[in-house]
Amino acid sequence: MKVTPIADKVFGAVVSELKLGELSDAHFAELNTALLKYGFLVFPKQFLSDEENVSFAERFGDLEFAASPMSNKPKNEDGSYADVSAIDTQLMRTNVGNEAWHTDSTYKPLSSKCAMLSAVIVPDEGGETELADLRAAYVALDQETKYRISQLSAYHSAQFSQANDLGDFPPQDETSIYHGEAYLRPMVKIHPETGVKNLFVARHAFGIPGLSREESRALLTSLRDFVVSDESRVYTHKWQAGDTLLWDNRALLHRARPYDYSLPRVLTGTRVAGDPESELAYYPTDPEAQAGREALAAELAILRVEAKDRMFGATTATQGRYSAR
Ligand code: OGA
Ligand code: MN
Repeated sequence: MKVTPIADKVFGAVVSELKLGELSDAHFAELNTALLKYGFLVFPKQFLSDEENVSFAERFGDLEFAASPMSNKPKNEDGSYADVSAIDTQLMRTNVGNEAWHTDSTYKPLSSKCAMLSAVIVPDEGGETELADLRAAYVALDQETKYRISQLSAYHSAQFSQANDLGDFPPQDETSIYHGEAYLRPMVKIHPETGVKNLFVARHAFGIPGLSREESRALLTSLRDFVVSDESRVYTHKWQAGDTLLWDNRALLHRARPYDYSLPRVLTGTRVAGDPESELAYYPTDPEAQAGREALAAELAILRVEAKDRMFGATTATQGRYSAR
């Protein structure tokens, strides 16, 4: 197996001369070490089956979901793909939301450890996936900012990010990711496996306790902009069918890039849950949850007015199912 660091970037590596479908324990240990060091790994030409996708991901821990279409074509029960979804379905609204920088599942009690995408059908133009290094960004912050944020936390909610980024207000439903809870997470994270500090903010984050709404928004936006302001901290993956991409959600941001939404873009996604010792905020039944719920309700009430000029005009999708993600 060959691990080649990505040229001109502070993170990322391409792994070749290895079949993920036939991975020995020794090679898995090497890959795990490489993932912690580089933050993300690209595996070209793997063409993993759903079973291979799942059994590889399970080596990292419990799965949030396994070999699910991260796609504009929902999967039918017989495994075939349905037609490309219309832009005003909740599925597409959620997909377009992925085009803003984020880490996965910070809006759940337990946020994600790492995640994988494998390309099945990709458009010729656009539809790339980008990653950004929150570790290098933290190192590059000035001392004053490091000190200012050292004790700060932010709430995380996918209802907030959909409303704030797109003016999308999915129906609140406790069985979906639009569940009405908001989870408080420190803005500086100490990586549970490497001990290295990184920033931990992105589109789902809002409402820093102790700051005014304006101060909180300004700080979160400036930190996000700072992370992606240096090209060496941002990598763009131009997909080829068969590629698999694996990233550490505890230390990196990622986003999808736009494409012609009438064309198919089918990626298979598998997401590994975080270790409760390091990635658990609290559960909805815990007393701390009340403050998050209230902060989210207050924020959404403001955004219902403020987000009328954003892509979906502060509306709810007219069609389509909720996303389980
Ligand atoms: C995800 C995600 C980005 C993409 O799968 O979590 O954000 O490029 N995907 O589809
Ligand atoms: Mn994502």
